Amino acid sequence: MKIAITGAAGQISYALIPLLLERFKFPIELSLIDLEEKVGQLRGLEMEIEDFCFPQVKKVASGSDEKTLFKGADVAIFLGAKPRGPGMERGDLITTNAATFYRQGKILADVANPNVKAIVVGNPANTNALMLIRGGEYRLKNQIQALMRLDQNRAKSALNLAAKQREEVFVFGNHSPTIFVHEATSEVTEFVRKRGAEVIKARGVSSQASAAKAIVDHLEDWMSKDERRYSAALYSEKNPYGVDEDLVFSFPYSNKKGILKLPLSQQEKEMLLITEDEMKKERQIACTILFSN
Ligand SMILES: NC(=O)c1ccc[n+]([C@@H]2O[C@H](COP(=O)([O-])OP(=O)(O)OC[C@H]3O[C@@H](n4cnc5c(N)ncnc54)[C@H](O)[C@@H]3O)[C@@H](O)[C@H]2O)c1
Repeated sequence: MKIAITGAAGQISYALIPLLLERFKFPIELSLIDLEEKVGQLRGLEMEIEDFCFPQVKKVASGSDEKTLFKGADVAIFLGAKPRGPGMERGDLITTNAATFYRQGKILADVANPNVKAIVVGNPANTNALMLIRGGEYRLKNQIQALMRLDQNRAKSALNLAAKQREEVFVFGNHSPTIFVHEATSEVTEFVRKRGAEVIKARGVSSQASAAKAIVDHLEDWMSKDERRYSAALYSEKNPYGVDEDLVFSFPYSNKKGILKLPLSQQEKEMLLITEDEMKKERQIACTILFSN
């Protein structure tokens, strides 16, 4: 299985690769992609992967040539995104990344395995995933998901800590402070909404090890032969919640049955509209820049 990773010289990638190789024991070919100026660092990472000595790793390639490195990919993990810098508005973050993901979407749809599974992690993840879908002219609309599993894991952990353990927990909407947890108290939703910022405040950098673990959880469930139910941000076409049909929105999902229809309370229906509205605004900003010149 060929797994391509963008932003591979970054911190999540560094935590992700050993975890991925500990969990997945089938033959793997890794394709590590980052910006031209990071190619030296990628070579160092390649050496470390060789030194892991995992027998299932058949080949490692790295560089900045996306056409070559995405070619034939069965799985693509999009970590590469420009972070929000000092003085940068959220709108600037959306537009910079929209152009990158739109361009990569075309390449992915042109050269990857037509059955590729792609997970978008780089923020703003949901809107970046929509741009990836649009860049590929919707050819991969049902094969691109944005990572919501970290939010789901955070919700589950908050419930465990409160001794209200539940087998299944789902999150709805955007990977942002408008997200909400299904059938949970406002304290649990608030916990999930603020957790990312709290980690940044404490560590000085964003969640990296927990994001890496969530990516592996998500991939394992998505690829499982058995039915698995989890939260994923999916292309919203024909969703049963009445959400705008051209977004990448987090829904409860079954890898065998697609989007699951669960009852929502009145308060949840109101939160759904707020997070949907935020995503529509992000789409508007992304598209304005893409199609204005
Ligand atoms: N969705 C989630 O749950 C979640 C959780 C945590 C972090 N994130 C996001 O994941 C992303 C990666 O986080 P990190 O901590 O690894 O960041 P990082 O800054 O350590 O690494 C990002 C890497 O992406 C590369 N990059 C930038 N633009 C690129 C492009 N166009 N093509 C290829 N590579 C490119 C950079 O050179 C860098 O090596 C960030 O956007 C972060 O906000 C998402």
